[in-house]
Amino acid sequence: MPPSEKQGLEPTFPLWHAKKVMTNSTTAPQLIVALDVPSKIALSEALKSLPPNIHWVKVGLELFCAEGPKALKPLHERNMSIFLDLKLHDIPRTVERGVAAAAQHNVQLITIHATGGRAMIEAAAAAARKFGHQRPNILAVTALTSLQQSDLTDIGVARAMKEHVRALAKLAVDAGADGLVCSPHEVAMLREELGPAPLLVTPGIRAAGEEKGDQKRTLSAEEAVRAGATHLVVGRPILEAKDPAQAATRLLLEIQNATKHR
Ligand code: C5P
Repeated sequence: MPPSEKQGLEPTFPLWHAKKVMTNSTTAPQLIVALDVPSKIALSEALKSLPPNIHWVKVGLELFCAEGPKALKPLHERNMSIFLDLKLHDIPRTVERGVAAAAQHNVQLITIHATGGRAMIEAAAAAARKFGHQRPNILAVTALTSLQQSDLTDIGVARAMKEHVRALAKLAVDAGADGLVCSPHEVAMLREELGPAPLLVTPGIRAAGEEKGDQKRTLSAEEAVRAGATHLVVGRPILEAKDPAQAATRLLLEIQNATKHR
């Protein structure tokens, strides 16, 4: 029986590589490259294409479902900080155990859906807390950046997108989430509403005129930084660029300059 089954939700090995999420609303935001690739081979190509000063990456459903935890090995070897974006949403017990299992893999950020409700968020936060000061931070997704008002109407949510996001964000932070995943359009409102502590992680970053793909509520990196984001998640604009290293470097510079002026 593997140690994790024997010992339930307790951490089962020392997190010797564990890093803290070294940012808050007063330090320079981090650029997280979303490694939305289908396999370990594609991952290795993507990593080769990035400049050496990329320290944060995001592993999502595609790669994790294809390769499992072994997909994280090359990232640990490069001493990268990892955002494991599995967007957990289930009954509290299942999410608690899912977070406990994910936290064993030495990742710094884990996502859950705020719409899972208070008990589920509390369960996720409790599971993370068991890993002590080297625990992963729990981020709650408010509304996906691919959704717009008409999508909320379709699923029976009558309130305006901003109100929906604000209410879910308050619930999530109150229930113990360390931060939120939100659209860059909502960062300023959430920073004002929730103060300096919560991590605010924004996907949906696009330069003016850039291909949006399925993203609807986008802003530039500069705008997201000025609004108070702590982490910017960027996938296709880097990995699908002709020169990914150049695209990443340009974004790092944009973030650095915007930080000076906020
Ligand atoms: O390619 P792009 O820059 O649009 O990638 C954004 C990344 O952020 C994707 O990996 C997507 O899964 C993730 N994400 C998102 N919206 C959320 C949460 C995560 O786009 N609300």
